[in-house]
Amino acid sequence: METLKGLILSGGAGTRLRPITHTSAKQLVPVANKPVLFYGIEALVEAGVTEIGIVIAPETGDEIREAVGDGSALGAEVTYIPQAEPLGLAHAVLTAEDFLGQDPFVMYLGDNLLRDGITGLVEAFRRNEPDGLILLTQVLEPEHYGVAELDGERIVRLVEKPKDPPSDLALVGVYMFTPAVFEAARSIEPSARGELEITDTIQELIDTGHAVEQHRVKGWWKDTGQLADMLEANRLVLEDIEPHVDGELIDSNVTGRVVVEEGATLERCTVRGPAVIGAHSRLVDSYVGPYTAIAAGCEVIGSEVEHSILLAGASVSNLPSRMEASLLGRNVRISRADGLPKTLRMLVGDRSEITLA
Ligand code: DAU
Repeated sequence: METLKGLILSGGAGTRLRPITHTSAKQLVPVANKPVLFYGIEALVEAGVTEIGIVIAPETGDEIREAVGDGSALGAEVTYIPQAEPLGLAHAVLTAEDFLGQDPFVMYLGDNLLRDGITGLVEAFRRNEPDGLILLTQVLEPEHYGVAELDGERIVRLVEKPKDPPSDLALVGVYMFTPAVFEAARSIEPSARGELEITDTIQELIDTGHAVEQHRVKGWWKDTGQLADMLEANRLVLEDIEPHVDGELIDSNVTGRVVVEEGATLERCTVRGPAVIGAHSRLVDSYVGPYTAIAAGCEVIGSEVEHSILLAGASVSNLPSRMEASLLGRNVRISRADGLPKTLRMLVGDRSEITLA
């Protein structure tokens, strides 16, 4: 089989992670302090796929270009492919047709994370040379995904977000195709949600007699499109981090898998891993509990934070109770003022969510 190219879909609207994604791309929200998108690029490079096209949207494309650059820092050679409107995954494939040409390719959804990478799957694709290869995994709520109906190992039917799922096997956001996919994508009609679905495209490949293989995901898989999934992905990645302390600990106690990045200072703090404290963050008189990722340049003063993600420059001080299962956007500030009256004072962006308990 010829050289495989990579196609990462990093456009789309990101409506489910608002308000974070009002101002930034959902594929750049960090998991254990690294943008989700970088895990996808790394997985492709590890599988020997280095020529990568990244589909970007007009609203967030510049930010993605800035973060990834030419890809060389990650061992990739990146070409950007602007998609004017998020008209569906199959539409993104058609938009990338010039870049992909006659080469087979791996398509990777920019908000997906697979623990065990894709090297073995790419090998199977090269070896067996089908026109399509999909990945399946069992999920609890299949109605939120593309769903496969199998007969033994054979794919019978693929349906996108069915109200009444025929199985609990979801399509994972990694697919492999030969150029046969273009004709299939051109043959289908937009779905009820107005998108050209990749799921329907693969069904079309099957219906027109092309070989499509299915494989099961080993290890965990996360689609980080929603807050709960993002926190869960953060938890899973943190479980495997290599602990090291490059910052400064002053009268502080750090246990478990903890990374303290360079220039971070902890004064009279307790950190219980798995957790990561970003470069040049400042923590004073605080407790950081398991599954917390604090990005660069944050401040945590007199507070308790657990199972949360703080984006760059976020700051919390003197919180009256422990903050958990939270995602704070860049430069968000939460503080407590002393004195009476005891009121809440807020300046909160569109579609933010605050739960007080
Ligand atoms: O995560 C797995 C699921 O991904 C599959 O089970 C579904 O079958 C598949 O349709 C897809 O569903 P989502 O609704 O989660 O896709 P989403 O709209 O989140 O888009 C996935 C990625 O592709 C995301 O990084 C945004 C990007 N995208 C999306 C669209 C619609 C584009 O680049 N262009 C687009 O037009």
